[in-house]
Amino acid sequence: MPIDILKYEGKRCVVTGAASGMGGACAQTLSDLGAEVYGLDVQNIKPDVHRAIQLDLLQESSIDAALEQVDGEVDCLFNCAGLPGAPRFSALDTCVVNIVGLRDLTEKLLPRIKRGGAIASITSVAGMGYPNNRENVHAFLDTPDFASGKAWCEAHPEIANGYLFSKQAIIGYTYRRAAELGERGIRINCLSPAPTDTPMMEAFHEQMPKEAMDEHFQAPIGRNATPEEMAEPLILLNSEASRFVSGVNLFVDHGYTAQVFCEQRPSLLL
Ligand SMILES: NC(=O)c1ccc[n+]([C@@H]2O[C@H](COP(=O)([O-])OP(=O)(O)OC[C@H]3O[C@@H](n4cnc5c(N)ncnc54)[C@H](O)[C@@H]3O)[C@@H](O)[C@H]2O)c1
Repeated sequence: MPIDILKYEGKRCVVTGAASGMGGACAQTLSDLGAEVYGLDVQNIKPDVHRAIQLDLLQESSIDAALEQVDGEVDCLFNCAGLPGAPRFSALDTCVVNIVGLRDLTEKLLPRIKRGGAIASITSVAGMGYPNNRENVHAFLDTPDFASGKAWCEAHPEIANGYLFSKQAIIGYTYRRAAELGERGIRINCLSPAPTDTPMMEAFHEQMPKEAMDEHFQAPIGRNATPEEMAEPLILLNSEASRFVSGVNLFVDHGYTAQVFCEQRPSLLL
């Protein structure tokens, strides 16, 4: 009998962004591992999930309505939904979906997450400037809820500048909640992907041409990741195999940040 170190059989998992890209790969793999998957997205969900639920993270009422459709207690939350920012989306909408809505959904689901449960959110290598911008990120995180978080972003457009700030804030949120949630037996982590070939990549190429993006951000093995190469480490983070892992921002970039941190490569993100 093979040993199952992930232990997802029968686990109730909520996956946002389940319609596409990394969230889609995550939802499908969790279903294949025997989990009961609730897929939440603003788009129609194709992966084979237990229940597909409409969610618009821009609207607090939609978050509330989506969570009402999730039954009982939950084992794991995967926050995969996100917007790429300019030029397609305003800085405000990007911050609301990527961190204000993510945090609201997480905090509202938390009372139903079991002891031993776990939360994993997708941030980005684009958030690696968090340590240099900690004061601003924490000022935002001091807001208690959806309305005040959104109002803070509206009042500080020079700080809440869209994708980079929203991804820094996911890292700050993860770090700040880890010890408190540990007391309740719940883990929280995030994952920073390198460029990954999902539908979002087309939007990134509108911000920066492909050649420049590859030069500055591509993993040193010389290719982008696949959605599955992000979904699987995310699944590992929320699994039983990671039961002593909490408060971690896992860079999944095949050595990109390692190069930046030891100054083998310049960074536009610090
Ligand atoms: N693709 C990359 O290179 C890359 C790199 C680093 C981080 N990321 C992050 O990875 C995560 C997954 O993105 P992806 O690359 O799989 O892109 P994707 O566009 O394929 O998936 C994003 C999902 O979020 C959903 N979404 C968008 N707005 C929403 C809203 N208002 N309410 C609910 N759902 C909404 C979309 O419908 C989509 O299913 C995102 O948080 C993204 O910022 C992506």
